[in-house]
Amino acid sequence: LPVRRRTGIGCAVHHRPVLSSTNSFLAGLARRGAPTGTIVLADHQTAGRGKYDRPWVSRPGESLLASVLLRPSRPLADLAQVTLVIAVAAAEAITRSTGLAPQIKWPNDLMVAGRKLSGILCELVLTPEGDLDHIIAGIGINIAQNRTDFPPELQAIATSISAETGRKVDRFDLFAALVERLDHRLTEWERLGFEPARHAWSVRSCTLGQPVTLSAPQAPRQGIAEALGPDGALCLRTADGTLHSVIFGEIPLAAT
Ligand code: BTN
Repeated sequence: LPVRRRTGIGCAVHHRPVLSSTNSFLAGLARRGAPTGTIVLADHQTAGRGKYDRPWVSRPGESLLASVLLRPSRPLADLAQVTLVIAVAAAEAITRSTGLAPQIKWPNDLMVAGRKLSGILCELVLTPEGDLDHIIAGIGINIAQNRTDFPPELQAIATSISAETGRKVDRFDLFAALVERLDHRLTEWERLGFEPARHAWSVRSCTLGQPVTLSAPQAPRQGIAEALGPDGALCLRTADGTLHSVIFGEIPLAAT
């Protein structure tokens, strides 16, 4: 593998041809004390998981499938930010290795021309006392799929690097860029706080300024996405004029 760093993200890299899920495999390593920054990369997953218990399906070699272990020193209250920081890093890695400029749909979907290119699943593991023990952040990036390779229900809402650029990107070059951007953005977050990533997220956002309808996990709520707050919450202005601070939720993908 082209990346192995002494410290930080990528201090240990486990590459496997097939796993059920890189998140699940890394959860086992984390329980056995793996250090922060440990990464798992798989060529194929047999039971890849998406948000809200959805499956995340791809065929061998056609996606980047990776998970990173984080044992952040920042307080639990700052954790909504992690998933946004990772989205920024993944978007920057894609830009660097393909020239594409993915936009970020709140909180962490990467979109190109209105279709989803990449998804991020952050799982928090708490101690019995309720403190944060670690985070498993899984990143899936569609690389080589043709539009028609996606299941019929996803064809109008999913895309890949090949479908957008007409070119094949080397999976390991993209992985190296991802490790570098994750290391940069997460170190910056630990040292300087959320402001730099908040700015980068806002510049890439396709959500801010738009009317949105939030679905899971709460009841549908409509409003205008006004800003990303300094704590990482989405500031949503509803029709009655009140401003709501939303930490968890999802904006459904719409066919374009
Ligand atoms: C989403 O629903 O948008 C999140 C998708 C996350 C998929 C990635 S692929 C690598 C890692 N392992 C998993 O099982 N899921 C994540």
